[in-house]
Amino acid sequence: MTAGKVKKAVFPVAGLGTRFLPATKAVPKEMMTVVDKPVIQYVVEEAIEAGIEHFVFVTGRNKGVIEDYFDIQYELEATLKARNKKTELNVLSSILPKAGSTSFTRQQEPLGLGHAVWCARDIVGHEPFALLLPDMIMKSEVSCLKGMVDLYEVSGGNVIAVEECAPELAHRYGIVAPGEKIGEGFRITGMVEKPPQGTQPSNFFINGRYILQPEIFEILSTQESGAGNEIQLTDGMLKLLKQQNFTAYHYRGETYDTGAKDGFIMANVAFALDRPDIRGLVEADLKALISALK
Ligand code: UTP
Repeated sequence: MTAGKVKKAVFPVAGLGTRFLPATKAVPKEMMTVVDKPVIQYVVEEAIEAGIEHFVFVTGRNKGVIEDYFDIQYELEATLKARNKKTELNVLSSILPKAGSTSFTRQQEPLGLGHAVWCARDIVGHEPFALLLPDMIMKSEVSCLKGMVDLYEVSGGNVIAVEECAPELAHRYGIVAPGEKIGEGFRITGMVEKPPQGTQPSNFFINGRYILQPEIFEILSTQESGAGNEIQLTDGMLKLLKQQNFTAYHYRGETYDTGAKDGFIMANVAFALDRPDIRGLVEADLKALISALK
């Protein structure tokens, strides 16, 4: 098992985003904006804060705009320069990744998250890597992935971020079974995807952030389709759990599932209220809207 530094992060962005049709007919859901930044930008920033140096995007059909987003836009920049728009130019240069620090590979068919992760195997190579599901954006003092990397330095092996949910919601998620306490987390002794109501081993759900060892690729290469007829990452991780340690990082910040309509709207509200330039306006409008409901 490799216990080296986590330098690469994988972002699976090849899903169809059917819950956001018709918008996702032409716009990848990862490019939908929360306030004024696409969802994918929040997740890349989280990875940068955690010390990630290389960003691997597993894309699919109609996702070319994600690659363009992380590139220079000559015409726009020339126009901004000619108009002396320094603030806007600074915004553009601040989001541009270092040359050579991004890789894009294709998942030709959306066969499931496990398959999307497997598509990154040659780029990741034989080293531990972070996996971030871009639907989930997070707000906390120390980013979720940074907390995981700190825990990983103590625990080694594989680390999965978890959060507590209400017991009646556990059937919607991947749930872990807890063992002994380790730092900001605990050893994982089992995992179950969407347990039937009342059968869950805990209320700790997997929230979309992982640090995985490269042995997962070999397991995924022979992984059969599972729930929803998709190649499931959880099924692969369950096999890896028989060979390697898995530790849960108990994340205590806010998480917004922007792949669901309510989560997307709440993310916009929460991040807008965090922005000094628009907070006052948004807060006043929200208060007026809510009082009109009563
Ligand atoms: P979701 O389960 O949210 O699926 O995938 P989806 O297709 O994106 O959205 P809906 O359910 O149809 O609305 C979780 C993450 O895994 C990626 C998605 O892009 C998303 O970031 N994914 C999923 C892939 O890259 N490939 C797949 O085959 C499936």
